[in-house]
Amino acid sequence: MLKIKNLNYSVEENSMKKDILKDINLTFEDNKLYVITGHNGSGKSTLLKIIMGIVQKSSGQIVLDGEDISNLSITERGRKGICYAFQQPVTFKGLKVKDLLDIAAGQNHNLSQMCDILSKVGLCAKDYINRFLDDKLSGGELKRIELAQALARGGKLNMFDEPEAGIDLWSFENLTSLFDNLKGGITIVVSHQKRILEIADEIILLSDGQVVMQGSGKKMLSLLDDKSCGRLRGN
Ligand SMILES: Nc1ncnc2c1ncn2[C@@H]1O[C@H](COP(=O)(O)OP(=O)(O)OP(=O)(O)O)[C@@H](O)[C@H]1O
Ligand SMILES: [Mg+2]
Repeated sequence: MLKIKNLNYSVEENSMKKDILKDINLTFEDNKLYVITGHNGSGKSTLLKIIMGIVQKSSGQIVLDGEDISNLSITERGRKGICYAFQQPVTFKGLKVKDLLDIAAGQNHNLSQMCDILSKVGLCAKDYINRFLDDKLSGGELKRIELAQALARGGKLNMFDEPEAGIDLWSFENLTSLFDNLKGGITIVVSHQKRILEIADEIILLSDGQVVMQGSGKKMLSLLDDKSCGRLRGN
């Protein structure tokens, strides 16, 4: 179980304090798929980056299975099974797809194991394992490789930032079964897409750095369906 307690994040901009996340309190249970949604700039990516340790919180606590992980480094959080797939995937100079998956899993994979993982994200291992993780890969290919990395790692907390962005219709057909493969742990997905919201166990709506609504997928979908733009912003 992951608990976010009284989490705040502010930055200084033009000598003024800017509050980006305001008193976030959330509980994420094992074996559930959570989808965080909300308008552009509402703080979704920042929240995931703080959980991963890429951005440092201003105050509050992040507690994973009873342990306060707020002050651990990204590497230490990674060792505890936390994985974050970026909204804009990062490239790694000199690293091949095969290396990334081996590092993620902490073991060497043979071709058939690579095939098993990469086919789940719609990629053929033979075509990709020796490709370098550079900007010659398309945005959609990089997104899929990030998903494959999470599968290889098999961690307890997997976070995906707009996993469907930039990938073709294949993703919608297969993301559900892909998330099923991660069952057992906690899956948190940031998305604006109704088809992703539809597979959520729980939906959390962020607006201007605050949690304005949360609840079961079904209940939240019907609320979000007939809301106006103003209500999405929490007005
Ligand atoms: N270091 C920073 N300095 C100033 N502003 C920042 C900083 N980091 C984030 N922000 C601002 O905080 C807000 C939240 O950003 P964030 O990337 O979390 O939004 P988001 O909900 O993921 O949006 P999107 O749906 O567009 O991806 C934005 O207005 C962003 O410009
Ligand atoms: Mg974002």
